[in-house]
Amino acid sequence: MEFSIKSGSPEKQRCGCVIVGVFEQRQLSLPAELLDKASNGALSDILRRGDMTGKAGTTLLLHNLPGSLCERVLLVGLGKAKTFNAAAYISAIRLAVSTLAATHCSDAALFLSETQVSGHDIAWQLRQTACTALQAAYRFEQFKSEKTPVNLRKLTLMIARRSEIAAAEQGLREGIAIGQGCAFSRDLANLPGNVCHPAYLADTARKLADDYGLSCEILETEAMAKLGMHALLAVARGSAQAPRLIVLHYRGGKKEAAPVVLVGKGITFDSGGISLKPGADMDEMKYDMSGAASVLGTLKAAASMALPINLTVIVPAAENMPDGNATRPGDIVSSLAGKSIEILNTDAEGRLILCDALTYAERFKPAVVIDVATLTGACVVALGHIATGLFSSKPNLARALLRAGEECHDRAWQLPLWDDYQDLLKSPFADMANIGGRWGGAITAACFLARFTEKYPWAHLDIAGTAWNSGKDKGATGRPVPLLSHYLLHYSESEA
Ligand code: BES
Ligand code: MN
Ligand code: ZN
Repeated sequence: MEFSIKSGSPEKQRCGCVIVGVFEQRQLSLPAELLDKASNGALSDILRRGDMTGKAGTTLLLHNLPGSLCERVLLVGLGKAKTFNAAAYISAIRLAVSTLAATHCSDAALFLSETQVSGHDIAWQLRQTACTALQAAYRFEQFKSEKTPVNLRKLTLMIARRSEIAAAEQGLREGIAIGQGCAFSRDLANLPGNVCHPAYLADTARKLADDYGLSCEILETEAMAKLGMHALLAVARGSAQAPRLIVLHYRGGKKEAAPVVLVGKGITFDSGGISLKPGADMDEMKYDMSGAASVLGTLKAAASMALPINLTVIVPAAENMPDGNATRPGDIVSSLAGKSIEILNTDAEGRLILCDALTYAERFKPAVVIDVATLTGACVVALGHIATGLFSSKPNLARALLRAGEECHDRAWQLPLWDDYQDLLKSPFADMANIGGRWGGAITAACFLARFTEKYPWAHLDIAGTAWNSGKDKGATGRPVPLLSHYLLHYSESEA
């Protein structure tokens, strides 16, 4: 989709569709009022009849409205003007674009972007608009013989004040970069396990490095064995697919500036291993590399925005399968950090690949490390599919991540990392077990990771409930690319 920014009157836009908002109860937004005047009250008539009340989540598509140059007018319900906020704005944009994407309209002028959202500036508004529009027009059809292409090609984002054009353009550029980062992440996560295996992830990373001039380093089994990454290797043992450790460096900051390091769980399929998962919905475990997809998507966004920071991405990639070489419950392995781990459940594999990757991160002398993982079903029990689970040893870091998520409505909620939970990981035979029992599973998983992250400020995002949707709209969400991108935007501002 192509975007441009413009100021002007709705009735004068010669295009496939003009999109304007209506507030509850039957209250025209300013651009809608202009269309109403130009059409001698056609819109007021419609509101009076009650076919559009302005309720959030509703739309009405009109054709050939008198007095205006466009082919169609799309009315979008904005809900109550009094409570109109960031979430309502983003929902309205999503609804407008997905509604138009189902028509034959190929270009539209969006006036919703003129509706001020309190507490947010024009750059925010354009950033959210572009990012949300790209998300709403996203399709994953590469394995379908018959495609349903989106006809909407050009979206003109209208702004009320010409003087704000520079800030608007900056916001638009950021929104496109983040939206494309999300799409990249969704494409990768949606791929099935037979296509997207660890070697495929490595090739994808190499290509990303070529596209953006990043340096790229990929470790294979032998190199990892030499280093002593036996926790990671234990997970890959039962699979015919060899594991990889993928490392990418984006250097947009000062030479000596410590990097932000993002670590993403890259289990390309999680069968559970010998602790085999039940059959129902097991296909969704192709999404167990969503953390990896999200950190790569965020890297793409950061590189397209040319953020003045240094950013390193680490992806431990493996497939968790149950063959004759597979790790058994009760096996004891040593980690890169030198600590021994009793693997009581081979389905708690994410923490095993992450602990070695997190130790590996130390060598880059990071300013901060954030890992992203579809780590526990327990996190879904705790927070459902709305909030990502956030854990951090540093209150400032937690606050910055929570705020970044609020800003783009890709929200996280903090859970405790208290030492009291650490006891649950005791093992009679090794330094620790890889599971902590039935209760507080998201927390004990995070506590396991905490033991490997003492040398730097660290946060952990459990995206088990937010990385993909199930059911009839099954598909990757691209979360938490927006959250992480906003975190990095602000991080780069504070660095400069
Ligand atoms: N990838 C899963 C977690 C998961 C499950 C994410 C369902 C999304 C939906 C992870 O590897 C796993 O299997 N975790 C186990 C841990 C348990 C054995 C301690 C879980 O959550 O059941
Ligand atoms: Mn598992
Ligand atoms: Zn897993």
